[in-house]
Amino acid sequence: MERGKLLYEGKAKQVYATADPDLVIQHFKDDATAFNAQKRGTIESKGVVNCKMSEIFFTFLEGRGVRTHFVERLSDRDMLVRRLEIVPVEVVVRNIIAGSLAKRIGRPEGEALPNAILEFFYKDDALGDPMINESHITTFGWATRDEIAQISELALTINRHLVEFLDERNVLLVDGKMEFGRHKGAILLGDEICPDTCRFWDKNTRERLDKDRFRRDLGGVEAAYQEMQRRVSS
Ligand code: C5P
Repeated sequence: MERGKLLYEGKAKQVYATADPDLVIQHFKDDATAFNAQKRGTIESKGVVNCKMSEIFFTFLEGRGVRTHFVERLSDRDMLVRRLEIVPVEVVVRNIIAGSLAKRIGRPEGEALPNAILEFFYKDDALGDPMINESHITTFGWATRDEIAQISELALTINRHLVEFLDERNVLLVDGKMEFGRHKGAILLGDEICPDTCRFWDKNTRERLDKDRFRRDLGGVEAAYQEMQRRVSS
């Protein structure tokens, strides 16, 4: 499938049209940003790792009956996906306290939560992706009541499957961000699932195997991404 016109360019990915109006190509770049693009850099081979890792997660989830936008991986950095009308809401699921939740409620990172927490953020870079709730989502028409109910259930289901998959590979899924979109009347999981969008900790050492190594200047960024790819590939 040939790349057509560039439809969208984000911080870490580009989206290209194809000859089929229902399909687009998602291209993974090495560019990395954090703190709403105030910190910028590149993580060598990140695009290749995230493309491959997302393929593995999407294929696993499809096998568990979760509908995703994934069709096939075309090359190291290109993935053919179903074209979605994106719901402009970032859905974050949390299993362990970390990141912005730790700051917001003033508790240390690392405390396991008794149940998964679901949070919504309005997808708007200029506003810094502010936190919102279901009432904002339905009032401003970003999704209907029925869609947000479906998205919430899907996010929690996906989280349960990923926790199980990763546990078998000695990895804790601390939290993760998901995006959903509409395709021919159905809600599908979109975007990517990788160390840019999830916090992965080694189960025994709690070593961080994700983008926090870049965000917090911890070093060993590329090695952590490679290690995660190795674990999910087994
Ligand atoms: O920063 P925060 O703790 O809210 O992030 C929660 C999860 O969502 C983390 O896994 C982070 O990688 C992900 N995230 C993301 N894109 C954003 C914000 C958060 O992938 N814009």
